[in-house]
Amino acid sequence: MPHFLNLTDAGADGVAAMLADALDRKAARAGWPKGMVDADAPLAGRVLAMVFEKNSTRTRVSFDMAIRQLGGTSIVMDAGSMQLGRGESVADTARILSGYADAIMIRTDDHAKIEEMAAHASVPVINGLTDASHPCQIMADLLTILETGRALPGLKVAWLGDGNNVLASIVEAASLMQFDVVAACPPGFAPAEQAIAAASGRALVVTDPYDAVADADIVVTDTWISMGQLHAEEKLAALAPYQVDAALMAAAKPGAAFLHCLPAHRGEEVTTEVIDGPQSLIWQEAENRLHAQKSVLRWCFGQIG
Ligand code: CP
Ligand code: NVA
Repeated sequence: MPHFLNLTDAGADGVAAMLADALDRKAARAGWPKGMVDADAPLAGRVLAMVFEKNSTRTRVSFDMAIRQLGGTSIVMDAGSMQLGRGESVADTARILSGYADAIMIRTDDHAKIEEMAAHASVPVINGLTDASHPCQIMADLLTILETGRALPGLKVAWLGDGNNVLASIVEAASLMQFDVVAACPPGFAPAEQAIAAASGRALVVTDPYDAVADADIVVTDTWISMGQLHAEEKLAALAPYQVDAALMAAAKPGAAFLHCLPAHRGEEVTTEVIDGPQSLIWQEAENRLHAQKSVLRWCFGQIG
């Protein structure tokens, strides 16, 4: 069963094929009304069930529109209003949803739950964010980078801030797609050493933000406090020197692009000047969640790669 729990599930060839498909499909419907179904309606008749244990704007709407544009339909559920929210097991939920829907997307607070979902589902399961990773976000980020005309191999990506779930998927992408990521994280908030070691030398963690951005093509950050984490003042204080501001952007390669998965906290991880400035690609990046996920869905249904 082709589950998409992490980028490695698709591998380098699968990721490359999905990105190529996303570029083609996005171009083919440029200027169309959002609700029009793609000409080939490749997922006609398919139903995507979505389960959210955490808040979402982009993932919820972009997956809903993705399956619609592919000719299918969706059912969107908040875990709190499901029996899952009052103790029905993940395994039983997986079996039940597999009987009604053709694919399941879940956003959960615990990566072990999505693995359990995948182990018991008889339809593809897609990771819509866990505490450990956010592969669909990085598919959109890679698509956005390709649209700038940059090739992925040889690129330098700088990450500033918390060593979180989004960074974990960037690190995974780096080793698959042959680019380098240098993450500047304060002590205590670096990613797990094991994740860095698994990146085949493509990932490096430093403490000085200027070491990360030196010669960087892409500068990325994310919220300092992820969903489900305590709003700890000491964490905010530790991360303060990692704010992406105009001086840090100026220390990257001229014309470096700025990415942020959103939601953003202007004045914390990034200044308004940078996120709303000319190097920021955040709106394109957010829209690309839709285009990238259409290809993830097609990959899950065996239509790509
Ligand atoms: N970037 C992202 O996943 O956004 P949402 O939390 O709004 O889905
Ligand atoms: N790291 C953030 C990403 C939100 C899309 C979180 O987990 O809350």
